[in-house]
Amino acid sequence: MEKIKAISYGVGVVGGYIAKFLLEKEGINIVGAIDVAKDKVGKDLGEVLGLERNIGVKISDDLDSALSKSTADIAIHATSSFLKDTYPQIASILEHGVNVVSTCEELSYPYVSEPKLAEKLDAIAKKHQVTVLGTGINPGFLMDTLVITLTAPCERIDKIEVIRIMNAATRRLPFQKKIGAGLTTQEFQQKIQKKQITGHVGLEQSIAMIAGALAWKLDDIIIESVEPVITKRLVESKDIRVDAGKVAGLRQKAKGIMRNRETIVLDFQAYIGAEEEYDAIRIKGVPNIEQKIHPCVHGDIGTVAMIVNAIPKVINAPPGLLTMKDLPVPSATPENMRKYVKTE
Ligand SMILES: NC(=O)c1ccc[n+]([C@@H]2O[C@H](COP(=O)([O-])OP(=O)(O)OC[C@H]3O[C@@H](n4cnc5c(N)ncnc54)[C@H](OP(=O)(O)O)[C@@H]3O)[C@@H](O)[C@H]2O)c1
Repeated sequence: MEKIKAISYGVGVVGGYIAKFLLEKEGINIVGAIDVAKDKVGKDLGEVLGLERNIGVKISDDLDSALSKSTADIAIHATSSFLKDTYPQIASILEHGVNVVSTCEELSYPYVSEPKLAEKLDAIAKKHQVTVLGTGINPGFLMDTLVITLTAPCERIDKIEVIRIMNAATRRLPFQKKIGAGLTTQEFQQKIQKKQITGHVGLEQSIAMIAGALAWKLDDIIIESVEPVITKRLVESKDIRVDAGKVAGLRQKAKGIMRNRETIVLDFQAYIGAEEEYDAIRIKGVPNIEQKIHPCVHGDIGTVAMIVNAIPKVINAPPGLLTMKDLPVPSATPENMRKYVKTE
């Protein structure tokens, strides 16, 4: 089989990390790159990634022209969190007969917030015989796919609780910005209200994906208000310094309610200076299951790996819109990427 041909769609921080990782991997080539940022369009991908060599792929703001030079098997899409923003981009990739794996949080389980767009994407993907998947570290793995996997040895489940606590100091700058690091409490509340910062997007999707896997019909998904975490001491990252009394990040909780009980509870905390970092999953049932990953999985490294490792599974999958719960058991791709692609 020829090398897998990939398009890099959205060469921001995460798309850039993914592109760099793909350039190191065997069995896959980047054949095109798309972005709208004025300081990137027209430049060689290598230059935009800060490499010392040119790749021979110019960043274009036009998918048609990027695909006129080469066909592609898959597009790695990393532009935005909300499906109403990413829908036209993803639909157009699918219409070109190219599979999509995207970091778009709402796409990880779009049936809750955007059921109509989900239906349309499924129809377009089926018409063009390609597959579309939204994934990443969270949503996509730590607070949903991993939780679902841990329910496999359970006979009965009464309640699921998931906590992710991370020190945001080691995360990328756009992430630190979206959790409000460095703001005053008032600025934080205003920006959250005006949707100028989003906080974490995906708790609703993770709860719905877990419920979907267990065939639980939830009565409600309650997204609690986003709470700023105020630091009592000076904390800092490479890019941001947060003085005592300012916002270091946030805490968000969401609950899936079934038969008047809190059945799925997700607790997400990300702030600069968090001392104990972990991912914990507690399943109350028969048997009880408790799992703690300590320190927590690094969000940016984990996202890059989740996206890249999903590539062969998406290429192998039947056409349509899929979520992580529909794919085979997730796994790494340490070998040549072609080894993971089914050949007829
Ligand atoms: N599921 C997960 O676990 C997970 C993990 C990490 C990140 N994410 C999500 O992935 C997305 C990307 O993150 P990031 O940190 O890389 O953000 P970023 O640095 O802002 O990168 C996004 C890039 O896409 C470009 N872009 C925006 N609209 C576009 C369009 N219509 N067509 C082509 N390019 C477009 C942006 O250009 P401009 O700068 O000009 O707008 C920017 O270069 C975010 O929504 C983030 O929340 C999800």
